[in-house]
Amino acid sequence: MKDFVDFDTKNKPRPHVNSLVRLHNDFTLEDRIKAAEDAGWNGFQFPSEMLRGGDLLSDSGTTTLTVEQFAAMVTGDESYGSNWGYFQLLNTMADVFGIDLDEWEIFLFHQGRAAEHALFTQIGGEGLIVPSNNFFDTTRANAENNKIDARDLVDTRVKHDIAHPFKGNINLEKLAELLETETKNIPMVLSTITNNTGGGQPVSMENLRETKKLCDKYNIPFFLDACRFAENAWFVKTREEGYSDADISDIVREEFSYSDGFTISLKKDGLSNMGGLLAIKKTSPLMKKHPNMLENIRDHQILVEGHPTYGGLSGRDLMTLSVGLETVTRQDYLDGRIGQVHEFGRYLKELGIPVLEPFGGHAVYIDIDRFFEGTNIERKDFGGITVTALLLLKGVRLCELGAFAFGTFNPETGEEIFPEHNYIRCAIPRNKYEIQDLYYVADCVKGLYDQRHSLPKAIPVYGKDKTLRHFKARFELK
Ligand SMILES: Cc1ncc(COP(=O)(O)O)c(C=O)c1O
Repeated sequence: MKDFVDFDTKNKPRPHVNSLVRLHNDFTLEDRIKAAEDAGWNGFQFPSEMLRGGDLLSDSGTTTLTVEQFAAMVTGDESYGSNWGYFQLLNTMADVFGIDLDEWEIFLFHQGRAAEHALFTQIGGEGLIVPSNNFFDTTRANAENNKIDARDLVDTRVKHDIAHPFKGNINLEKLAELLETETKNIPMVLSTITNNTGGGQPVSMENLRETKKLCDKYNIPFFLDACRFAENAWFVKTREEGYSDADISDIVREEFSYSDGFTISLKKDGLSNMGGLLAIKKTSPLMKKHPNMLENIRDHQILVEGHPTYGGLSGRDLMTLSVGLETVTRQDYLDGRIGQVHEFGRYLKELGIPVLEPFGGHAVYIDIDRFFEGTNIERKDFGGITVTALLLLKGVRLCELGAFAFGTFNPETGEEIFPEHNYIRCAIPRNKYEIQDLYYVADCVKGLYDQRHSLPKAIPVYGKDKTLRHFKARFELK
């Protein structure tokens, strides 16, 4: 009998079936136009119930929970102090990250940036530099808010190599040079896995290992921004020599074995809707420079998040996290998850849409400079905003992360300062969509791409001079 089924199939089943679905409400084009105008054509302000195709604004906290998580939620212990779910979560973390709870201090927060805030407030100061492959925007903001020079050292030499397997790597030569010349001014090195700002690109195990070696040489702690630790491990397994037979869970443990500490937004690979974490190794060199650090962070946590055993989260949240962290390292889950992202990217490419390659773990990025090449739309016309704004009318929400989001307005010269990249990010929520939804998104992008020579410009009418302006700005399309 075995021989009859000894063949491969082009399509694979998803790693789950639907147990609960949400039906879309009905809205007309006129409803959406009115809502988009009221929102100043800013996707963040557009009501999500009007989205039909795909809400790819973010993959953060947008995960569809599994029935196992819902079941665990019911058992959540809402006691104010030392609820039992907390201890269960600690044990899960010890197992998933491969850390010894006696050697590590774990701080829970309601989300990633709260953990970053707690960390950088402790280690910040004038003249300090923290090198990274790339800082995520909130991580950068928290570092800079504490006077730290947040220095991106991603390896740009492979920028144009569309087949490079680990475009998220830090440039080790540049790092070595900086550590040598600025040793005293570097409180830590930070690697973001996967590298969200750099296109959701993975970091190789070799790069993590070598970064740790360099840090050890100068007695500098090495931290991870590990929001997508499991997705990164999947890339290591599928792309890095020597790992194809390794278990994802062992790869994850190896990733963390090189770190002296880490922050995680558990809204990503925690497979949960809320949660953040700061973990610090008690033997880290950081402790010598900042002997009161752990105590100070505890105090800060109590002041802003609550008792350390819930850290801004409900007992229910802690239970979903426990189950989520166990699920996220499953091979079938990751195959399905990243396979879906890559199929979406492949289809966009087939339609002729200029996309960043290779595709990342959680998102596909559309290159807006190439999208508008040969048209009269220049960076100052914020074409990425135009595309995201018009897609709202088709019930699709993407996120401009380019000339507007990462650009700044110089009030003295009246000119815009543009970032290196000009992308729209299509971030795919975990377990939420079927590929058909994503094909629809791609078809809508193609519909606008075909009209790229006649699309309107996006004129900011409010907020271009504000910080974090993409969240607040309003536009007119002309
Ligand atoms: C790499 C990275 N670091 C930090 C954060 C911040 O996490 P949070 O949104 O939970 O505050 C994010 C969120 O998207 C992220 O992608």
